[in-house]
Amino acid sequence: MGKVCLVGAGPGDPELLTLKAARRLREAEVVLYDRLVSAEILTLADPEAIFIDTGKEEGHAEAIQQEIHRLLLQYAWEGKRVVRLKGGDPFVFGRGGEEVLFLRQHGIDVEVVPGISSSMAAPALAGIPVTHRGVAASVTVMTARCKGGTEADWSKVARVDTLVILMGVKWRERIARHLLACGRPAKEPAAFIERATTARERVVETTLGAIAAGKVEVESPAVLVLGAVVKLRGAMLALCARSMA
Ligand SMILES: C[S@@+](CC[C@H](N)C(=O)[O-])C[C@H]1O[C@@H](n2cnc3c(N)ncnc32)[C@H](O)[C@@H]1O
Repeated sequence: MGKVCLVGAGPGDPELLTLKAARRLREAEVVLYDRLVSAEILTLADPEAIFIDTGKEEGHAEAIQQEIHRLLLQYAWEGKRVVRLKGGDPFVFGRGGEEVLFLRQHGIDVEVVPGISSSMAAPALAGIPVTHRGVAASVTVMTARCKGGTEADWSKVARVDTLVILMGVKWRERIARHLLACGRPAKEPAAFIERATTARERVVETTLGAIAAGKVEVESPAVLVLGAVVKLRGAMLALCARSMA
């Protein structure tokens, strides 16, 4: 019987991969990878391995997830060393928990190698500390859409200091309107970090009100950060030398 290793690939930059993730990739005979995993990271795997792109097309996510489960089981039963490679951390909106439960229910050994989540890396590299003494003592990471496309419970996050929202680009105006309705101020600082840690990274600093008014152009994938910590960005960037080399 083979084994499946759920590996977090981090936010994109291969140097943000953990040593263990790189080792598991080198050892893998089969690599099932998600859409957000960079091509550079895949070059760390054995070129002789079987590579399967599991990128989810919109509207077909459930059928594709079932197919991923089937393939993981098939290769594990064949005795292969399987790596299930996911962007960021496998347990942060990556359906990693579902895959672990499915495999364990079928008696397959599973190992989890955590990754650096875009929810923390994107703000950090854009010069935004998600917590900061005297400015933000709490941070919540959330998705805009829940199981079956249902709406998130926005009232729960009305009062957290820093709010980090994933998968929110398409629904940004609607999200912002919900947050305004819950009492967050229109002038609240906000930032979208697009394609974080890649050569095409772009940061858009704005406000909650401008997002609600449809004034902010942004492309997916992006992380949205809301809260007073966004205002620290200028000073942070002036003080921290950041090297992409
Ligand atoms: C399905 S979730 C997976 C999150 C992932 N497990 C993690 O921990 O980063 C995909 C969302 O993560 C965010 N994301 C992932 N990688 C990103 C990147 N390099 N730059 C900006 N946002 C990213 C975007 O909000 C995207 O829509």
